[in-house]
Formats: sequence, C-alpha cells, structure tokens
Amino acid sequence: MFFRPLVILFAFLVLPAFSFWSGVDYAQNASLQKSTGEDFIKYLGSKIDAKAIKELLVIGVGTGQNLPLLLEVFPNAVIQGDEPSQSMASCTQSLYADNPRVKIDVRAAQDIQAKDSYNMVFSSYVLHWISREDITKVFSLVNSSLKPQGIFVSKFANNNMIPDIYNRFATIGAKQKYKAALADFVSPMSHHDLTFIVEQLTSNGFLIQEIHFRRDPYIFDDRDSFARALKQWLPRYIHIKKTAPDLADAYIEEYIDEFLVDSMQESGGKVITTVPIIEFIATKR
Ligand SMILES: C[S@@+](CC[C@H](N)C(=O)[O-])C[C@H]1O[C@@H](n2cnc3c(N)ncnc32)[C@H](O)[C@@H]1O
Repeated sequence: MFFRPLVILFAFLVLPAFSFWSGVDYAQNASLQKSTGEDFIKYLGSKIDAKAIKELLVIGVGTGQNLPLLLEVFPNAVIQGDEPSQSMASCTQSLYADNPRVKIDVRAAQDIQAKDSYNMVFSSYVLHWISREDITKVFSLVNSSLKPQGIFVSKFANNNMIPDIYNRFATIGAKQKYKAALADFVSPMSHHDLTFIVEQLTSNGFLIQEIHFRRDPYIFDDRDSFARALKQWLPRYIHIKKTAPDLADAYIEEYIDEFLVDSMQESGGKVITTVPIIEFIATKR
C-alpha cells in the first residue's frame, strides 16, 4: 500500500515531460483530436486489409478516445495501448479493465521493447511530442516491433508550417512580465517536416506507401472552449502555471489574441482554424 506514492514520485522524476498530460481534463477538451483521429482510422480501414490486423500497438493511446473505432475497424485486433502519462493511462485502464481485446501499459515510445510482435503500429497526435533525436530511435524500435510486412501508420501536427506563429509566441514569452516565469522553459514540442519524416522512415527500414500533407479543421464553440483546450497542452502555459500561476490566464489571453491575428477567424462566436498535419502509411521492408 505505502509504496504507491513512491511509484508515483518515481514516475514524475523519470517522466517529467509527460507529467502535464492530465487524463480527466484531456478527455473533456480533446474532441478535435478524437474526430480527426477517427477520420484517419476510417481512411486506414479503406486502404488496409483490416481483418488481417491481429496485433495492434497504439503509441500514446492517451485517454483511449480512438480505441472504440480502432476496435470496430480492425475487428480481429487485440490492442496494446502504450501511454507514458500515468494520469492518461489510468483513465484508459479503468475504461477497458474488462475488455480482453485491450491492454494498457505506462510506457513511452522510446521504451518499446517488443520484437516481431505487431501487424500494425498506430499513433495519432503523438510524434510532435517526441524530439527529432528520439524519432530516429522510436522509428527503429517500431520497425523491430513489427512482424515482416507490418504496417506503421501515424498522423501528427506539422507545427512549423504555421507561418511565423512560433516566433510570435516566443515574442509574447519574451515580454518582461513573463520573462522570469519562462526563464528555464524548454519546449517539449518538435517540428518534423515532410523531408525529415521521409528520411527517417526510409533510413529505419520502412517503405512509404502514402504520405499526405493535410489540414485538420479546428472549430471551437467560443473563445473559452479554445482557451480550455489550449490549457491541456500548450507547453508555455503549463510552465507558467507552475512558475507564476497568477500570470497564466493573462498569457493564454495574449496567446489567443496573437493566434487569431493570422491563423484563425472568429465567426458567429466560433473560433475557426486549421492545423497542418502529416499522415503516413509505411510498411516494414
Ligand atoms: C494530444 S495527446 C494524443 C492522445 C491520443 N492519441 C488522442 O488522439 O487522443 C498526446 C499524447 O502523446 C503522449 N506522448 C507524449 N510523449 C510521448 C512519447 N514519447 N511516447 C509516447 N507517447 C507520448 C502524451 O502522454 C499524450 O497522451
């Protein structure tokens, strides 16, 4: 009983980058990740021999919001869901405790150990949280974890295609009032453009079947729901919340104002934008 706090403490020490993913909050504010992930899964169902997928690994399964459709589209699949955030994983574990087709473990993609085990590896909205250096390692581990001719499919945000936006955010962060709060900030987000991903897939033993650049529509009912969603994942906000909590709300308001300038529109009260996405289907060579 008493070693549980120690396990949690240990998890926070070794997984600092994942500790901000909170399961309950994410589940309530990630309907866009859910619906656009589902579009991708339906597309995969139309392209892949779905019934042949028996062992499926989901990297960064989060709160499991893509699991119902994955189970439906891949009716013979047993799903191993890996998720490094204990908070996110606990949500999914409790939802699927009685489902013999789903097993959830707390594990980062950098720690995949399986060999020759899966017909398919899937991830949605995860790879941009993995550094460029670690992508090389992760793609190599994914390749080893796949059976011969296994399939690697993923969709993730191509952040650096948002024109100038990161410079703008940095500019807000550099303002005097946030400077101290962000002094030791290191963003956990990475930019993986098409060239990088093609090169990484090819050099880690994959044959690319399809690679798309597309834009996912993001429509929020109002400014408040956009703010709530940002608070789940915006790394600078999460950092300020810890270092100077009284500044956090002001930061979000400034961020949204900046964002709306050239990336978004407000229409009928709704906040509308698109996020650049890369999707690929690759097979093990
Ligand atoms: C935007 S959420 C997406 C969750 C889920 N795939 C979905 O579509 O709802 C990003 C997820 O990536 C996970 N993540 C971050 N770094 C990771 C890593 N190195 N390996 C695996 N998952 C990671 C986070 O813990 C979080 O659950």
